[in-house]
Amino acid sequence: MVSLLQNHPITEPLAILGFLQPIVNKKFYIETFGCQMNVHDSEKIAGILYQSGYERAEGEADAGVFIINTCSVRARAERKFHGYLARLGRRKKDGADITIGIAGCVAQQEGNDLLARNPFIDFIIGTHQVHAVAEVLKQIDEVRAPRVQTGMTTEISEVEPFIAKRSHPGRAFITVQEGCNKFCAFCVVPFTRGRERCRTLENILIEARYLAEQGYGEIQILGQNVNCWAEGGNNFIDLLKSLDTIHVKWLRFVTSHPAHFTEQMVEWMGQSKKLCPQLHLPVQSGSNQVLERMRRDYTCEQFLSILSLLRRCRPGMAISTDIIVGFPGETDEDFAKTTELCAEVGFDSMFSFAYSPRKYSLANRWVDDVPVDVKRRRLMELQALQRQIQIEKHKNLIGDELVVLIDGPSKKATEIYSGHSGCNRVVNFISAKIAAPGQFARVRITNSGPNSLFGKAID
Ligand code: SAH
Ligand code: SF4
Ligand code: F3S
Repeated sequence: MVSLLQNHPITEPLAILGFLQPIVNKKFYIETFGCQMNVHDSEKIAGILYQSGYERAEGEADAGVFIINTCSVRARAERKFHGYLARLGRRKKDGADITIGIAGCVAQQEGNDLLARNPFIDFIIGTHQVHAVAEVLKQIDEVRAPRVQTGMTTEISEVEPFIAKRSHPGRAFITVQEGCNKFCAFCVVPFTRGRERCRTLENILIEARYLAEQGYGEIQILGQNVNCWAEGGNNFIDLLKSLDTIHVKWLRFVTSHPAHFTEQMVEWMGQSKKLCPQLHLPVQSGSNQVLERMRRDYTCEQFLSILSLLRRCRPGMAISTDIIVGFPGETDEDFAKTTELCAEVGFDSMFSFAYSPRKYSLANRWVDDVPVDVKRRRLMELQALQRQIQIEKHKNLIGDELVVLIDGPSKKATEIYSGHSGCNRVVNFISAKIAAPGQFARVRITNSGPNSLFGKAID
């Protein structure tokens, strides 16, 4: 096969700031922060490293090469990364023979500054340079100088479709689209991932067929704005229709933007044989004034009309969302509208966050005027409401039979396994037979809590 790596020449000069030890211990350890895109980028990095003669360390203690795949979506994610980095830095200063590489969104955003502040880092690769990780390692090993490679391309950061070392035995991610042109006022992603780029339908299908042959039961296609995928005259529905012919049981996609979620997409969700009865559609706020300042390009009414059409086309569809509380200028009335919308919709699950000002973003130029304690109170109120909704919804599932893709044995007890249902709920279940990760199980739900269901494997 032709290596796609050749498409990405290295353009940046070497940053000669210090001298490195030769890389003797070729065991790698990847620490991943952030979204599924980062999780899958780490799987690609692992695959590339395997191909270059590295192997996965059993744990941090025996690793010679560390790669931290970073996220900068909120201050908290960055803080977690810096805590981890500082710990590794101390180990290195204490004499540990380790190579430290940084990838992902903080790497892209901070580049040379990150190295200047942490001179013990050996290399930094940006979000468009995932494919180049082995070349960069080879270069720093030869030249014995740190390297920062954060150039952005107009192409997708394509790696050969068969390289990624996927961490789940049954669920496989495929990147179909990267980057974002939306520039929501709060968000750093367009700056860390660059403009929208789409993989070709052909490459996506090659990878999907390969994964089906490998026995994966579920494919999840990934994009920052996945429903904006378009390539060679094909649109997102064409992509979904093509993927429906692949021999896997389940398909999912994440993350969709409500402004680009068309009626045709909703209708296809009602017809598809493979798409799981689950959709993640971030609404962010229940106030049109806030949505406008967020530059989200839709109103609450438009969002609600997508959901009602969806529930008509596919009854029982589980819908999850993201909410930001305490966006600049958010009043008590705005927040009340958010809780009203959430109560009205009854989301099946929710990721809710306190607004966190982000470098480069438009809202970063505005005063972060909602006090921390007000943000916290709003978040707690919203989460309490959502918890109640989930408790009720989960209770209603008791007695139902759900198909579950098994993630693995539960950490809590033997004979207990954990998995995800088609509606994307965590299902813990008892099985007298050993339930293999990556296989499907039929589970009768016997009990429920706010965040998960409990049941018994059938047969
Ligand atoms: N592409 C996705 C979102 C990616 S970020 C989309 O458009 O929906 C995931 C979530 O993080 C966002 O939906 C938003 O709820 C949250 N988020 C992003 N930036 C944030 C910020 N500055 N402060 C708080 N939450 C933020
Ligand atoms: Fe961020 Fe908005 Fe793009 Fe999503 S659509 S990645 S929230 S800018
Ligand atoms: Fe974080 Fe970058 Fe994903 S900022 S959420 S890792 S796109």
